[in-house]
Amino acid sequence: MAASEAAPFAKTGGLGDVLGVLPAQLQQRGIECAVVIPRHRSVSLTGARKVFEGLHVWLSGGFYLCDVWSREHSGVTYYFLDHPGLYDRDGLYGHPDDAVRYAVLSLGTLGIARHLFRPDVLHLHDWHTALTPIYLKTFFPNDPTFEGVKTLLTLHNLYDCRIAPERLPEIGLDRRYFRTDWMEFHGSASFLKAGLVFADQLSAVSPGYAREIQTAESGEGYQGILSSRSDQLTGILNGVDYAEWNPETDRHIAANYSAKDLSGKRKCKAALLERFGFPVDDVIDRPLVGVVSRLAEQKGWELVREIFHEFCALDMTFILLGSGEYRYETMFWHMENFHRQKVRAFLGFDNALAHQIEAGADIFLMPSRYEPCGLNQLYSLKYGTLPVVRATGGLDDTIDEETGFKFKGYTGQNLLGALRTALQRYESPTVWREMMVTAMGRDYSWNRSTDEYIALYGRL
Ligand code: ADP
Ligand code: GLC
Repeated sequence: MAASEAAPFAKTGGLGDVLGVLPAQLQQRGIECAVVIPRHRSVSLTGARKVFEGLHVWLSGGFYLCDVWSREHSGVTYYFLDHPGLYDRDGLYGHPDDAVRYAVLSLGTLGIARHLFRPDVLHLHDWHTALTPIYLKTFFPNDPTFEGVKTLLTLHNLYDCRIAPERLPEIGLDRRYFRTDWMEFHGSASFLKAGLVFADQLSAVSPGYAREIQTAESGEGYQGILSSRSDQLTGILNGVDYAEWNPETDRHIAANYSAKDLSGKRKCKAALLERFGFPVDDVIDRPLVGVVSRLAEQKGWELVREIFHEFCALDMTFILLGSGEYRYETMFWHMENFHRQKVRAFLGFDNALAHQIEAGADIFLMPSRYEPCGLNQLYSLKYGTLPVVRATGGLDDTIDEETGFKFKGYTGQNLLGALRTALQRYESPTVWREMMVTAMGRDYSWNRSTDEYIALYGRL
């Protein structure tokens, strides 16, 4: 597998979670699996070995000289492609030379496949490694090393990297690649399109999302190519790493609890309220709505802006952990400042706090405009924190009336309606408790999804 992030080494969202656990699940079922990610600044080399020095990654007449480090994690070998000039930086994305950074990752992966780990299948993830198939098929068509190697591209999102055609030489390609049936996308050269065209199989991280992206409404312009390949596009739901996300064993939370004994959850709520400086005794019985999220347009925060005042008037306590776009950070910062008696926003990235919110909140809010799978709603189920979600993609696939609250149309009023229903339901402790227990009993472990990936590898 090759990707831009893998927990615990580098993570900005669910992609990192998946790359941190699926490989081990495969390995446990006898699939030999290794993972390649860049050696980002956050990747610690403690316990790692340098396994290759001076890997030449050739892009148009010049090369990037990389070292490769490796480390075991949950029984799986992780390779870190090291080129400090490209990867030793703050932030995984958003650099002006991202095209080159991730082209080197995509091509360097083939170097690792040649020298260190010979796979039958290259399993790629999102645009960051979407060039690997086009390099494989056009640079090395008759290379015996890669004979029979097949590629799978998994779509966790339809984010893309697009460059002007004049810049193609920077990523080792040229004008000949700028064809409508290859990389051309509305006048730019698209990494994602290259992957969608050249990978042997495609998958998306939920069946719902796999269907939605074939439509004009959600396909972001790729619906044509995606629907033309619908026979080779499978939806496979992500699973949860219950070794990491389980209130019975979680080391980050104030008290452990289970569906049989929920008493610890109230302690977690009290600890969370206290951490944020609320007068615990006064607010402990008021419903606590939590959020852990990238603050990106995808996540639906525009809807909260639409209903800002009505939202703040609801009888609830609201705690948000998030980081991302400035416009949303300032919105939540203002919300806290104007409504300190019931709102706290922690703007940053903090894994332990993410766990504490899952455990301490009563309700988890996720009003996404679109959601390829979503992991936080699945974590919420396990922690008995009932999700209020927009019925889209993986959220629609995983939340139902017995375990949470959904709204369909993408409007602030609909969000408000679903949240009000949840708050009303909270007033009936027996009904609420029954829903919590049902939610906590839902099984979204990796078992089934791992089998589905193995079946897909088998087809390849
Ligand atoms: P996405 O990958 O689109 O961001 P997911 O729900 O699939 O959404 O996964 C998000 C993951 O990132 C979860 O593990 C969540 O706990 C974590 N996460 C998101 N934002 C933060 C944050 N600010 N601090 C800590 N963890 C976060
Ligand atoms: C993406 C999606 C999210 C998904 C995650 C892992 O970041 O936004 O819905 O859960 O990838 O597949």
